[in-house]
Amino acid sequence: MSCHKKAYITTPIYYVNDIAHIGHAYTTIVADTIARYSRLIGLETYFLTGTDEHGQKIEHSAQARGKTPQAYADEISDTFKTLWDDFEISYDQFIRTTDTNHKIGVQKAFLKMKERGDIYKDVYKGHYCIPCETFFPKSQLVDDEFCPECGRATSVVEEESYFFRLSDYQDKLLAWYDENPDCILPRSKRNEVIRFVEGGLDDLSITRTSFDWGVKLPAELNDPKHVMYVWLDALMNYLTALGYGTDDEKMEYWPARVHLIGKDILRFHAIYWPAFLMSLEMPLPKHIAAHGWWTRDGAKMSKSKGNVVNPKEVADAYGLDNFRYFMLREVPFGGDGDFSQKALIDRINSDLGNDLGNLLNRLIGMSGKYFEGQVKSHKIKDYYQAELDEVNLSLTKLEPFIFEMQTNRYLEELWRPLSVANKAIDKYQPWTMMKEGREEEAMALNGLIAVILAKVSIMLYPVMPQITTKIATALGFEISHTSWNELIKGDALLENFVIEKIPPLFPRIEEPLLAHVEITKEEVKVKQEIKKEKESNKDEGIALIGIDQFFETSLKIGTVIEAQEVPKSKKLLLLQVDIGEEEPRQVVAGIKEWYSAESIVNTQVCVVANLKPAKLMGMKSEGMLLAAKDTSGLSLIRPEAPKSNGTGIG
Ligand code: MSP
Repeated sequence: MSCHKKAYITTPIYYVNDIAHIGHAYTTIVADTIARYSRLIGLETYFLTGTDEHGQKIEHSAQARGKTPQAYADEISDTFKTLWDDFEISYDQFIRTTDTNHKIGVQKAFLKMKERGDIYKDVYKGHYCIPCETFFPKSQLVDDEFCPECGRATSVVEEESYFFRLSDYQDKLLAWYDENPDCILPRSKRNEVIRFVEGGLDDLSITRTSFDWGVKLPAELNDPKHVMYVWLDALMNYLTALGYGTDDEKMEYWPARVHLIGKDILRFHAIYWPAFLMSLEMPLPKHIAAHGWWTRDGAKMSKSKGNVVNPKEVADAYGLDNFRYFMLREVPFGGDGDFSQKALIDRINSDLGNDLGNLLNRLIGMSGKYFEGQVKSHKIKDYYQAELDEVNLSLTKLEPFIFEMQTNRYLEELWRPLSVANKAIDKYQPWTMMKEGREEEAMALNGLIAVILAKVSIMLYPVMPQITTKIATALGFEISHTSWNELIKGDALLENFVIEKIPPLFPRIEEPLLAHVEITKEEVKVKQEIKKEKESNKDEGIALIGIDQFFETSLKIGTVIEAQEVPKSKKLLLLQVDIGEEEPRQVVAGIKEWYSAESIVNTQVCVVANLKPAKLMGMKSEGMLLAAKDTSGLSLIRPEAPKSNGTGIG
């Protein structure tokens, strides 16, 4: 990967309708790690985070609390900022979409897109999901009504709207993905995006008239009832933070090195955002990196589910750096990770305690006992060149991992030098050397361990800034771009120094420190409800079945090709139904009170196709139609759109 001198790194801006949970903390911590790494290797780095404060959802949340949207946004935005400050997140700017300069920048961008002919006015009719702030075509809705993302009911909206000609950008976007294999990380996600775009893009409605809490259109357009669509407003933060549309002061940081996001908002970043940028004639970001979900018991974490883990609580109990290490080591970037205290404790006791902390303790013990804490490194190469080579090889492999956000592989590789060091002590046995009078060799081993610890500390600093600073102090050096240059880029060794004794960095943790995190009240409630439901099902004699049992029933789509009334019967119709077999099935159906013979011919129905044939009023019936009946009458169950006869249902 080529190294640009500047590194502009961003997190998503967080909605102010929720307080931060470990999912938000994860994105921010990954971004912070990349930012710290970039500074360490000497890139001019600008790290942006902030809050996304407009939109109907936030207007509603404020109303529900009897607050103005601005007062509400101020309050929640501040909780995010405070958390990131507590977490020592090294952001350079915390942007808010209610900032005046941001709003000016968004309006300028809107005008520019309009001048380029990319924006036109029309009427929008569609299904809108307020919580997701997204329109969905009917074909994507679940049961014609519910949001495919969050499952909540959508509302039908018909309003005048400005549209962005997204459809014009299909080919340009495909060319960008094609020419930049790393533009979307992980690469598997890029393929998903390509498939989506290849399927065709509709123009995008980018203004709303149904609510007020948003950036107004530029005054020049004289159309005060419109506010900007939140995603146009929000995405623009990446540019307005650099002064786009106002002072342009930091525009030299553009294009972004990486926009870090969660996989839920990939479409907005990988399709809309580059199209907007092309319209604005701006260069495109180098990477859009989408990570997976943090879940609890396999379910996505969200306030509405009540399964949220509070990152501050976890960091306070287990240590901020330990928490950072755990999050970055535990899951491959892009994959989902399940949060549990057990996994966290295992990582702390094993990787951090045994491999890293213990090595430092061994060094403190050995140097104290034999050399009064002195470390001299000038003879290391005479005795331990092979070990040094192995360590340096690992260190050279690290950089691509970090810039591809593969933090778990980065840390895995970084643990190899620790293992080299631990093994060297076991193999060369400094205590034997001392007994045999091989002091120089023992001192060199002492030096080797100190050098390995120093090198690992530098590279671990972006992930664990506090702990590694303590280790560096004990080893008498400072972690900085200069020491990185000397010890990592060059192959300098440490200066001679006296090691400072420090208390163990990772005291062993025997049991979970947060009793209430393992299982939330909400989870207890849900579990109790499920139990109750199961029990009541039993009471009513409704046995639960497995999926295999369900599929024992053969359900098929068919078309009624003939229908007649059964003489002398008030209820029955005699039907011939084509279910894709050679002969039509004869079905006697008790539906005459609700359907006439004429009305049912040539319509599609759902048929239970493997019922034992029965005789009704002397006529053979070889199937049953699916129908639902309540006090208002009976309705046949039919496919929403025509399906070929014989299509299975399930
Ligand atoms: N406001 C938009 C982003 C606009 S960026 C121009 C938004 N905000 S959000 O607060 O709902 O979520 C922001 C990000 O938080 C998600 O993309 C994701 O990065 C992170 N996460 C939220 N829940 C998460 C998990 N349960 N697990 C991991 N990260 C998740 O979307």
